[in-house]
Amino acid sequence: AKPDPLRIMISGAPASGKGTQCELITKKYGLVHVAAGDLLRAEVAAGSENGKQAKEYMEKGQLVPNEIVVMMVKERLLQSDSLENGWLLDGYPRSLSQATALQAFGLQADLFILLEVPEEILVERVVGRRLDPVTGRIYHLKYSPPETEEIAARLTQRFDDTEEKVKLRLRTHHQNVEAVLSMYKDITIKVNGDAPKEDVFAQIDNALSKLLEEGKATSGSL
Ligand code: AP5
Repeated sequence: AKPDPLRIMISGAPASGKGTQCELITKKYGLVHVAAGDLLRAEVAAGSENGKQAKEYMEKGQLVPNEIVVMMVKERLLQSDSLENGWLLDGYPRSLSQATALQAFGLQADLFILLEVPEEILVERVVGRRLDPVTGRIYHLKYSPPETEEIAARLTQRFDDTEEKVKLRLRTHHQNVEAVLSMYKDITIKVNGDAPKEDVFAQIDNALSKLLEEGKATSGSL
């Protein structure tokens, strides 16, 4: 029988580079990028009831309640493109209960990537981050500046990207990370995220190629 497509989880502190690595991974492996934070921000932007509630927690750097997050992520993972091409789950699970919920739905990952970056670097990354609302690309004023004046002029900043808010997000991360890691010990790879993004990707690329070589999974169709 044909092996299943790759199913990958990526985790790490706020601004550890999850979104940046997901851009590189999806480009090469054709997986569907499912980012809990992006799904939540889409709800906030749409002004839905879930979005209104979610924003209150996101502004405090706290986890949005499971009632909102769990079904949202599950539904996205079970859409036909994710099932066919494989998925890359970013920023979920962030608690033991989110991990067990996923398991209960029969959704298992092949690999759990943990990006490790020293804390003093994270604040600088958050404060300098900018987003291109047209392409969805992530920039940094110093480390990954926009290519043209036109892009520079339209860049936006996330509402939770202040020094004060990232400290709250970091605290929430520390409260939950160990419990989540304990669930995925056997499939975890720790990646040094404190290096140029291409070097970080090389470590991840290596691990994903090995998985494919072992024939446990196939890559997406892109
Ligand atoms: P979410 O959107 O997931 O935010 P986060 O975890 O804080 O992570 P970030 O998106 O800030 O960072 P990233 O790791 O993607 O880094 P990036 O690549 O952009 O969550 C936001 C909120 O939503 C949470 O606080 C919570 O309230 C809620 N939420 C989300 N998931 C939830 C869940 N499962 N349950 C409940 N609530 C949930 O990089 C950052 C910057 O650094 C960029 O400017 C980039 O250009 C730069 N950079 C990246 N890599 C490098 C490098 N190697 N060298 C130099 N600079 C780099």
